[in-house]
Amino acid sequence: MPIVMESAKKRVIIPRGEVADIVARLAAEITRDYKGKNPLLIGILKGSFVFMADLVRCLDFPLEVDFIRLSSYGSSTETTGSVKVEQPLRSKVRGRHVLVVEDIVDTGITVSFLMAYLKKKKPASVRLCALLDKPSRRRTPVTIDYLGATVPDRFIVGYGIDCAEEYRNLPDICVLEE
Ligand code: IMP
Ligand code: MG
Repeated sequence: MPIVMESAKKRVIIPRGEVADIVARLAAEITRDYKGKNPLLIGILKGSFVFMADLVRCLDFPLEVDFIRLSSYGSSTETTGSVKVEQPLRSKVRGRHVLVVEDIVDTGITVSFLMAYLKKKKPASVRLCALLDKPSRRRTPVTIDYLGATVPDRFIVGYGIDCAEEYRNLPDICVLEE
């Protein structure tokens, strides 16, 4: 296990009750815009899996879910700047109303890659829902259509979000402190 894991302290920044309120508010916005459109929700693995699970259970209308796995930080905390599709979609995107579900937008490189990748597949529409936004480190502009909360430039873990694969199971959103 990396040394950082053993010495890291966690501080809760968004407790689970507030996360639930945020998810409910996003679900209301998404319902207003997508009810009756049978949208395709595409989660970016692995970080979005907890958010996706809670979000879809607040959406009381027909929809489909798929996941895509993109290359990520690995065990480092810095993005490499290049994105690859590591596990492709199974669903057809053409003609669908697509909503990308992401855990956290940081530099913006991952989601801008994915939005461009999906647009080439000719969806009826494609928008982005992100639980968290860390705008201070943005390197490429990103429009977040449905945003949960803005967070400071700290390393976030919990609620699906990891540091070297650890902490995804924390129910609260936390920052790692040294
Ligand atoms: P990007 O820098 O916007 O391309 O973000 C790439 C990916 O890095 C996101 O999808 C997250 O999964 C991950 N990421 C960004 N910031 C954090 C963080 O603070 N903690 C853990 N993962 C993060
Ligand atoms: Mg992610």
